[in-house]
Amino acid sequence: SKTSLQLSVNGQQYTLDVDPETPLLYVLRNQLQKNGPKYGCGYGQCGACMVLLDNQAVMSCLLPVSAVTDKEIVTIDGLAAIDGSLHPIQQAFIDEQAAQCGYCTNGMIMASVALLTRSKDAGEEEIRQALQTNLCRCGTQSRVLRAVKQAQE
Ligand code: FES
Repeated sequence: SKTSLQLSVNGQQYTLDVDPETPLLYVLRNQLQKNGPKYGCGYGQCGACMVLLDNQAVMSCLLPVSAVTDKEIVTIDGLAAIDGSLHPIQQAFIDEQAAQCGYCTNGMIMASVALLTRSKDAGEEEIRQALQTNLCRCGTQSRVLRAVKQAQE
């Protein structure tokens, strides 16, 4: 049954009528029209649905919305500055042409943002580890790695 919940998404406060068990991903996409997080596998295995919760990258497809009412949620839709200029990681992904089909890209970017927030000077091994939960079937990993390194400069 539905209940009233508060969510903070990309700096805005929302009050929603929602089943508390609904995965955050569905609420973001279907109720708040934040379409940056993607539905890939739906069971926590691919990373396409990644968002930030208090600056940590998490998969939103399995997370009940009721578990995140006290968190700052950020989706890729909220990464760019108000004037439209891209986040340095978004720009680096473009510069390095790190997307192929692009389905995993938004999740990769969110994982990268979380990584560089907690570890600005992360080395190659740490970057690889941080991104290993984000699957890419197109084989873009080496370009993604270059993009993250570029964003560190
Ligand atoms: Fe959430 Fe794949 S859609 S991990």
